[in-house]
Amino acid sequence: MQTTIKRLGILTGGGDCPGLNAVIRAVTKTAIYRYGIEVVGIVDGFGGMIENRSHFLEDCHVSGILHRGGTILGTTNRDNPFRYAVGIENGKTKWGDVSDRAICNLEKMGIDALVVVGGDGSLNIAHELYAKGVPVVGIPKTIDNDLSATDLTFGFDTALNTATDAIDKLHTTAESHHRVMLLEVMGRNAGWIALHSGTAGGGDVILIPEIPFSYEAICQKISDRRKMGKKFSIIVVAEGASLPDGELIYQKEVPDNPHHSKLGGVADVIGNTVSEHCGVETRVTVLGHLQRGGTPTPFDRILGTRFGVKAVELAMEGTFDQMACLCNGEVQSVPLHDAVSEQKLVKADSELVRAAKSVGISFGE
Ligand code: F6P
Repeated sequence: MQTTIKRLGILTGGGDCPGLNAVIRAVTKTAIYRYGIEVVGIVDGFGGMIENRSHFLEDCHVSGILHRGGTILGTTNRDNPFRYAVGIENGKTKWGDVSDRAICNLEKMGIDALVVVGGDGSLNIAHELYAKGVPVVGIPKTIDNDLSATDLTFGFDTALNTATDAIDKLHTTAESHHRVMLLEVMGRNAGWIALHSGTAGGGDVILIPEIPFSYEAICQKISDRRKMGKKFSIIVVAEGASLPDGELIYQKEVPDNPHHSKLGGVADVIGNTVSEHCGVETRVTVLGHLQRGGTPTPFDRILGTRFGVKAVELAMEGTFDQMACLCNGEVQSVPLHDAVSEQKLVKADSELVRAAKSVGISFGE
């Protein structure tokens, strides 16, 4: 089906990641040069849609941004048009549905179809907007790589490079001081960054949410290494790894909105316990938002570009409520619903986990 789209809107939602600017550039250039239509960038994610903040995107806005991290449009992981903070009542935030206002603003902006670049939260909102009549196309973004229906999200490769570089650096100092070094990486409740960086960086123990661990197994690994003359060990810990009793460690817990709770600090707890149990000196590094910043890798720039082009093609064909995805190396599309229906987690018996075990990496089992 051919559409009569004359103006495409684009917004970036949720936590940022390297490669967003590559997407914005690809969408803008493809729309202008291949299809001769206009592009409007909505500022600060769904917040800008609710508050009617946007501006035209022209070639001059997207020139020279391919290699830049972050997003020139700004983003937020707070503003959901279907659950928006509309005031305070009895000392508590009052939530309201302002989606009609947000959709009305899209009309004011003259936007005929909307490209939403986001993780599961933003893509869920995109799917709900489609149900209310907004022609929408999604692009998967997150360093966590935890979105179903795509082999990879852009941003993951850059985060993986940052985490692997950190492990390489920890190796040299761990070896000098005969210490056990723990690196806590991001990923929410999925262990992709920890699994991949731990394997690439030659970690000795990798702890991920999908595989329960025991302190005995970690100490056994450290002691086995010592017997082999290896006086240091590297433990890569996913922020969402749960303690042996099932507890998750948060830097900030938001009980009435678990999605806004912030994981963090589990490596400290594990480091202290391992030190006590095994009588070794431990040090903990929390990599944090360094994984979200900086220059995107060539892989993420290319994937972002391919996703951006695909999203414009889908919109121009009139194929909505779909997300661009990578499937067996090819960029294709899937229904948004499939993309957000379940989180993609590491399978404990997957080929990469088995390969890591084969080369002696312990998962603390
Ligand atoms: O989803 C991306 C991510 O970086 C997670 O890995 C992490 O748990 C979370 O976002 C951190 O969010 P914030 O930037 O709000 O602290």
